[in-house]
Amino acid sequence: MNYIRTTFAFAVFVALSVALVAGCGSSNAPGDTPAAPAALLAVRYAPRTDLLAVTSPIGSPSRWPTAGFPPPRSARLFPNTPDRDLAKLLLDQRGKSILDPLNTEVLSPTQADRVARLVDAHFGSPLAPTVRLLDWDTVVASAVVRVDPEKPTLGATLKAAKQKLGSFKHALWKADWEAAVAAQAELKLDEATLARGSGLYRRWCMQCHGPSGAGDPAQAVEGGPTPRDYRQGVFKYVSAFAPPKLPKKGLGASNRASRADLVRTVRIGIEGTIMPAFPSLTDQEVEDVVSYVIHLSIRGETEFATLATIADVLKYTDDTPDYNGGELDWLFVQHEVWVLLNWGLAAKHPIPVPPEPFAGGDERLKSAVRGFKLYNSTEFACAGCHASYGRGLQLKWDAWGTVAQPRNLTLGVFRGGRKGEDLYARLYAGIGASGMTAFHDKVTGAAPGTPDKLWDLVHFLQALPDPADRKRMQALDPEVKLDP
Ligand code: HEC
Ligand code: HEC
Repeated sequence: MNYIRTTFAFAVFVALSVALVAGCGSSNAPGDTPAAPAALLAVRYAPRTDLLAVTSPIGSPSRWPTAGFPPPRSARLFPNTPDRDLAKLLLDQRGKSILDPLNTEVLSPTQADRVARLVDAHFGSPLAPTVRLLDWDTVVASAVVRVDPEKPTLGATLKAAKQKLGSFKHALWKADWEAAVAAQAELKLDEATLARGSGLYRRWCMQCHGPSGAGDPAQAVEGGPTPRDYRQGVFKYVSAFAPPKLPKKGLGASNRASRADLVRTVRIGIEGTIMPAFPSLTDQEVEDVVSYVIHLSIRGETEFATLATIADVLKYTDDTPDYNGGELDWLFVQHEVWVLLNWGLAAKHPIPVPPEPFAGGDERLKSAVRGFKLYNSTEFACAGCHASYGRGLQLKWDAWGTVAQPRNLTLGVFRGGRKGEDLYARLYAGIGASGMTAFHDKVTGAAPGTPDKLWDLVHFLQALPDPADRKRMQALDPEVKLDP
């Protein structure tokens, strides 16, 4: 039944697309839904033109950038930037870890324009934000219908489409699409919620996170993080950890927040950064603004992944499509499905935090002493990044091409929370965006009854900033040395 319905819808769709392409020359992409009223379209999100950090840049930055000039921004201003040296380090990686959507050799103006129109059609505008996933029949049509610009006739298109329909992985895509639909509902992305969230965002968040969620670098303070750029779907202080062995679809399911993580960030802020707490928002307002942050993130990531795939010419093979017209539309639809699917996967995989083994007293300190030894062991090698317990300057590039400093662990300021379970989650899953290692493999499969190594490290992290605990650890074991 379903198949017949799909085939019928698909035939109608082919006829329509061909009529559109051959006939009135409409520039609407397949799958476009009716346009929003003109007044609402007056304000649109700006298409993305800044540099794309497809992986963390190679090497390490030698110093902090000047406030307001994170390296990707400096690279755009080069040579008129106070940080030419850092900009140069990024510019040298163009074409590899850094892609440039303004380089017309990798992304033509026609492609850039089509991506921008697809983004608008699927995600609306700041005043009418939406997340529009195509219905199943249109997904199939979008996957198989490609009007060949050389032979744009109905006959040629139907013939080619029939062939593609034969090799289309129907069951696989249906499962992905269903997972995406389910995630969309769980993430509370209905238009009424998003419209309320957008209003709150403009009032409370936009000055730092920017109208499209790009994170305004001008707001960053020296030595501090840039307000989060949501457009890669990457978050740092999360309680979700999709198993790394899952097949990677799109940009993958790692480093993704759950709704609860975002609610918590908005409620209590991020300690040690300029990200404020918002205690005065009502629960409903926090929920609404979180939906809107997820909207910006899904929108941004779909755009980012599409642009990055097209611009990553080094990965092209003989089979790579030309990413124009229908090929580009299908690329975009795939990424939208995967982005939603990955949010759903993350939500289904909370980090397993076992109950804290010792509430207090000597047992907790003995555990902290074991943690001290693990910290300095070759197995964990925490000091490789946090030398002298993080007191020194040892900078890293992060996933956005900006700069991160492995935390100074002697201060007791933890951005993702200082509670045992927060620190445990941080060690278990790492902080992928900033290159901090995930240590989950050190506890999975450990012999029953042996002390949980991550809890030992957590107890050490909690004891380290406390002068009294330090003395007590040293009294228990004179080998504990904590000063530089
Ligand atoms: C004064 C500037 C400022 C304002 C206003 C602000 N933020 Fe932030 N926000 C930041 C900074 C800086 C970070 C990055 C912190 C880091 O990387 O450790 C951040 C990070 C975040 C993150 C990422 C957390 C993670 O796990 O990666 C979220 C989500 C977020 N902010 C949401 C919001 C929302 C929602 C609002 C408005 C209700 C808001 N922010 C207002 C500066 C701000
Ligand atoms: C490969 C480098 C690397 C290694 C190895 C590493 N870290 Fe980190 N760590 C980082 C970076 C970078 C940050 C800062 C992330 C940021 O601010 O974006 C960090 C942050 C942290 C934080 C702060 C979390 C928060 O909520 O603020 C803790 C705690 C921490 N590391 C503990 C450890 C411990 C314990 C080990 C060893 C078991 C370790 N790290 C190993 C790079 C590393």
